[in-house]
Amino acid sequence: MIKFDHVTKSYEGGINAVKDVNFTVEKGNIVVLLGPSGCGKTTLLRMVNRLESITKGTINVNGQNSMELNEIDLRKKIGYVIQSNGLFPNMTIEDNVMIVPDLLGWSKKEKRERFYSLMGLIGLNADDYRKRYPNELSGGQQQRIGVARALAADPPVMLMDEPFGALDPIIREKIQDEFLHIQREVKKTILFVSHDIDEAIKMADKIVLMRGGEIMQFDTPSEMLAHPKNDFVSQFFGKDRAIKSLSLHTVKKLQDIIGLVEFDETIQDTKTINVNQDLRNTLSMLMNQEADQVIVTDDNGRQLGAITIDLVQKYLHFEIKGKPSVAQKG
Ligand SMILES: Nc1ncnc2c1ncn2[C@@H]1O[C@H](COP(=O)(O)OP(=O)(O)O)[C@@H](O)[C@H]1O
Ligand SMILES: [Mg+2]
Repeated sequence: MIKFDHVTKSYEGGINAVKDVNFTVEKGNIVVLLGPSGCGKTTLLRMVNRLESITKGTINVNGQNSMELNEIDLRKKIGYVIQSNGLFPNMTIEDNVMIVPDLLGWSKKEKRERFYSLMGLIGLNADDYRKRYPNELSGGQQQRIGVARALAADPPVMLMDEPFGALDPIIREKIQDEFLHIQREVKKTILFVSHDIDEAIKMADKIVLMRGGEIMQFDTPSEMLAHPKNDFVSQFFGKDRAIKSLSLHTVKKLQDIIGLVEFDETIQDTKTINVNQDLRNTLSMLMNQEADQVIVTDDNGRQLGAITIDLVQKYLHFEIKGKPSVAQKG
């Protein structure tokens, strides 16, 4: 758990980078700090592991005041991943990943075992990469190594500052998926900085949306999209925020709530989608198809029914915006 109590940060020259911030990251949750450049995300994050001092207020990490932790305890407890992965170019991959265990005095055998298990977790072959150097790896691979390094001493808490921000969009989405998969296993308490709305919606259990050092709203992604607290929040997510929120819902959920339609056998050249696809992908797929229907299948390829744009629209009004749509009448 990370608990922020009236946390304020003033830099010399009178800039208040963070103003009276209060929120809690619950155990095992991912909270994403989101907001425009300069709104104080990095400053807030770096106060947790004491890379920045706190001007006023307190930050508790698992019940302990962060100011009372010593440096070794801090490193054991808090993994840290940054955008420019921070790997040391003159150290091998294994040595990079094992920096913290090394500082903590683990034995050679313990370190070797941990290295192999971490590489398994991030999906890279330990034997292939052990003796290589960071510049021999792609950006995506380096970022995975950065994640492995932060996890090395199995810290309960992770701080991640735009960890995937430097990657191209396709690799970024892949690493986000992988990371969520890892998180389901390791269940860390994570504070994650992003300025990317889609990334925040995808990764967050809760989002802290900031402006000028202040919290504008602290909520689950779907709550924030459905009920923005003020104009800043609704403008930040944009006019298409309802459509964005479709990424939080699957075809399966739509099927459970309003049901699929029967597939029209007369339609030729149809496409299929998996029932576990999210509705945002489904909608863009429907919009790119010529036919008005796409077949929905389960993981075994069995047909469950069909989905239409109308159906997605109906669900959007009914379930997401919480009001009946025109299509629902009659
Ligand atoms: N070391 C510093 N000294 C003075 N001002 C700083 C320093 N670091 C950050 N700031 C200011 O604090 C504000 C928040 O910065 P930052 O936390 O880096 O924002 P973000 O990560 O959201 O882009 C900005 O106005 C920035 O210029
Ligand atoms: Mg920043």
